[in-house]
Amino acid sequence: MSKVSLADLLRMKQSREKIAIVTAYDAPSARLADAAGIDCVLVGDSVAMTVLGHDSTLSVTLDEMLMFTRAVVRGAERALVVADMPFGTFQVSDELAIEHAVRLVKEGGADAVKLEGAGAMLSRAAAIIRAGIPVMGHIGLTPQSATMLGGYKPQGRTAKAAHQLLDDAMALGEVGCFAVVLEAIPEPVAGHITASMRMPTIGIGAGASCDGQVLVWHDLLGLSTGHVPQFVKRYAEAGDVVLAALKTYVADVRGGAFPERRHTYSMPAEERELLEAELGARLTRSIRD
Ligand code: KIV
Repeated sequence: MSKVSLADLLRMKQSREKIAIVTAYDAPSARLADAAGIDCVLVGDSVAMTVLGHDSTLSVTLDEMLMFTRAVVRGAERALVVADMPFGTFQVSDELAIEHAVRLVKEGGADAVKLEGAGAMLSRAAAIIRAGIPVMGHIGLTPQSATMLGGYKPQGRTAKAAHQLLDDAMALGEVGCFAVVLEAIPEPVAGHITASMRMPTIGIGAGASCDGQVLVWHDLLGLSTGHVPQFVKRYAEAGDVVLAALKTYVADVRGGAFPERRHTYSMPAEERELLEAELGARLTRSIRD
């Protein structure tokens, strides 16, 4: 099983073969993603919400991202592993951005990193790429800037805003990003960006013309609770399956139906007899003393 490379992703764009990406945060999920033929696993900072229970992506730390990245790397043999740079790890300076990206690759084992934004962040992307680390861009609805953007809203819905997105995507391409995530932007805008770029576009709420798609693991599998964005397709209701199984387990434990004989360990008959005889003697001694 050979590892998906950056060249493979470019070739897929050129031959109009769609790229399938999913987020994952642990080894068993990454193993399943690999087995399903996923091209790239994103260790998204969405883990802050999906796994850690925060109400935004802002609080996840670099150390936490390193732990999740290592776990995914252990599970994914074929898929390219991209680690998200969490909020605060790349905004301050090019030097710090390089230092933190290096940790995600060197200590986390990621193949590449993703960072949100363009504008001032272009210089961060360029610096990390110059340091030898592949970078995936991310524009449109960038959750780390949700407050600045006025909430989790679609972006680029005016001609002016769409031009800005096109400029940002082109600029990310010029600094050498190997792909760019387009989140929550109108289909025609994503279509123009995709047609103008050499590098693949990966859509999430950006329509079918993107070169690939990404979805969050918990959304795709029906494991997320609360608001689910309009662009999510749930391919399973795994949350319902898990809940039903847990309820049956609780009922079995309370009713004595679990564990059964086949779930328990036996011991040789002579050892059992010996133990019982010794326990009897021990009990007699403790009553006497
Ligand atoms: O953190 C994440 O999961 C992401 C995807 C939504 C692209 O950035």
